[in-house]
Amino acid sequence: MKILILHGPNLNLLGTREPEVYGSMTLENINEKMIALGKELSVEIKCLQSNHEGALIDALHDACTWANGVVFNPGGYTHTSIALRDAISAIQIPVIEVHLSNVYAREEFRHTSFVSAVCKGKVTGFGWKSYELGLRGLIDLIGK
Ligand code: DQA
Repeated sequence: MKILILHGPNLNLLGTREPEVYGSMTLENINEKMIALGKELSVEIKCLQSNHEGALIDALHDACTWANGVVFNPGGYTHTSIALRDAISAIQIPVIEVHLSNVYAREEFRHTSFVSAVCKGKVTGFGWKSYELGLRGLIDLIGK
């Protein structure tokens, strides 16, 4: 089994970016954790981050040629991007939406997600562990 962990805009700044909201783990720390969990569960993990909407769309298109599923934190594009939603519904593999923060406990504009309806599931508010929960859920889903 092969899984893409995809991170959207500004997530490259984790560690220093609003640590009171997003925690102190860097993106590299999170990726290391996911790769280690993948090893434990015999799943191959590839991690990718981009600040560009088009690059995220390309990564989703490409993932359907090699991955069994995607754990995706679209960052701010969650609340704005119909193009990302269309990319998720165009590909034939399951996508899980994850967020470090609890988007529903924050500003109202973060309560709207253009991608939720086309994702298989969503994890929000558990800090970096949202990725772990999302990955475990996705593996379970694919296994069924
Ligand atoms: C985020 C939540 C988004 O609202 C925000 O724009 C982000 C990070 C999260 O992981 O909590 O960039 O996706």
